[in-house]
Amino acid sequence: MNQTVDFLVLGSGLAGLSFALKVADSGKVFVVSKTSLDETNTRYAQGGIAAVTYKPDTFDKHVSDTLVAGAGLCDRSVVEMVVREAPERIQELLRWGTHFDRTAQGGFDLAKEGGHSEHRILHHKDSTGYEIQRALTEKARAHPNITMLEHHFAMDLVTQHHMGVPTMRHQNDIQCYGAYVLDTRTNLILTLLARLTYVATGGVGNVYQTTTNPTIATGDGIAMVYRANGVVENMEFVQFHPTSLYNPGERPSFLITEALRGHGAVLRGQDGKEFMHKYDSRGSLAPRDIVARAIDSELKHTGHDFVLLDATHLEAEDLRAHFPNINQKCLSIGIDFTRVPIPVVPAAHYLCGGIKVNEHGRTSINRLFAGGECTSTGLHGANRLASNSLLEALVFAHRSAVQAKAIFENFDFQTDIPAWNDEGTSNNEEMILITQEFKELQQIMSNYVGIVRSNLRLKRAFDRLEIIYRETEDLYEKSVPTQNIGELRNAVNIAYLVIKMARRRRESRGLHHTVDYPKQNPVIERLH
Ligand code: FAD
Ligand code: SIN
Repeated sequence: MNQTVDFLVLGSGLAGLSFALKVADSGKVFVVSKTSLDETNTRYAQGGIAAVTYKPDTFDKHVSDTLVAGAGLCDRSVVEMVVREAPERIQELLRWGTHFDRTAQGGFDLAKEGGHSEHRILHHKDSTGYEIQRALTEKARAHPNITMLEHHFAMDLVTQHHMGVPTMRHQNDIQCYGAYVLDTRTNLILTLLARLTYVATGGVGNVYQTTTNPTIATGDGIAMVYRANGVVENMEFVQFHPTSLYNPGERPSFLITEALRGHGAVLRGQDGKEFMHKYDSRGSLAPRDIVARAIDSELKHTGHDFVLLDATHLEAEDLRAHFPNINQKCLSIGIDFTRVPIPVVPAAHYLCGGIKVNEHGRTSINRLFAGGECTSTGLHGANRLASNSLLEALVFAHRSAVQAKAIFENFDFQTDIPAWNDEGTSNNEEMILITQEFKELQQIMSNYVGIVRSNLRLKRAFDRLEIIYRETEDLYEKSVPTQNIGELRNAVNIAYLVIKMARRRRESRGLHHTVDYPKQNPVIERLH
């Protein structure tokens, strides 16, 4: 069944909903969300959103902190732009009904996180993302021009390839006409045709065994753009958050926000000794890549399953007031974090690379924009500074919306798009095969493509993945399309891209650390 709309938005997190809200006064919008509208990475964000609001903080300091974390691969002009546009976008979030914590004097109660030289994180207790998602969801649901398609799974982008015209990677005249989208309640595939499509499908955490990301984060948008021959880059830079709650069997892993370390909590070994100063003079508040690698090294040396995050020297009432979400979660498993340290381990958390976009969020494919975690904008380089991700989603959604509104009427609907072809497929009775392949994929990524890499491990991962790739493509060809098989296929594509780009990078930089090339290559920095 074909349907047409001015703007097709894939994803209902901060990037998708803020773009939708901004273009909705100019045309009709469909927002597609694979489960419920508010099940997004955005919703689980804890620490907050970085922006320069008061002295002694300055734009230059925020720019400098971002560049230092990015280890030489940030695009300075993008960093400057995002940092300078941040305050205006924060004002807009406030107008949309988001509340950030305030001090008794009425100013923002600013937190500090790893790699930040100043207190500059606006937050809502320790559940900032929940508050932002709430405000945006309410506003988007009330907009008469926005139609929500919840429980709809985007399978693939529609390009001229589907009209029988082959395309090649890096070709500059690929056109996107919309997407094939599975209604997961009726199992029908809809052809949603749009003047302009916006991909905001979020991260990839679920390609790893241990992740802070909810199950929706399977890299679908990046995989779809890759299959449509669009440009994807920097996939080797997967960020592991140093401190997720060690609670075996729980998936996703519950995050213990970096803001707790910003508040004074300290990392210790199980022997009670502080260890971060062995690795970095900034101690527990060093940038994330350094802290995650230090914990990984401590765990390997001691053979322990977790390290400890100790907040017991801090004032108990104050801790409970600032971190009610963490308090509640820890109490639910018998830990009073004001009295005993929290067991923590690193977990896959954020992808710095993704769909390459320009400063307006335009991809290499015509009529296709992208925003949020699925993109590579140049802001993060080789390692993202904490709390810069929500900011990036917001700033780029705004810039994309401005451009999209100016050009969308130039594009007509493409009407001769064939319906989804599922000839020769049958219901897949062997659901267990899909689940099993997914588990194997996660094991491969965690065992061989984790925090510390090597040539041997990456080759092993590549060889194992090839088998899974062939089996998955075979299953996909034969099965009636489902969300499960679609997600598995996407996750395999993502794993392939991470491994391929990690193998190509013959140096250690930011989040990519390999024992075979332990140093940064200065030539790459000069070229950049
Ligand atoms: P998301 O919010 O993840 O939204 C993705 C959307 O795409 C969802 O609606 C999903 O249903 C939809 N989707 C995906 N695939 C498909 C498909 N095939 N078909 C249809 N729909 C699809 N960043 C910060 O800056 N500060 C923080 O404090 C912070 N804390 C975090 C804490 C946690 C636990 C996590 C997991 C992340 C945190 N981050 C934080 C990162 C940040 O939350 C995310 O990078 C950001 O919210 C991503 O927003 P997004 O709009 O790009 O994607
Ligand atoms: C956190 O609260 O520690 C997460 C912040 C982020 O991912 O930016």
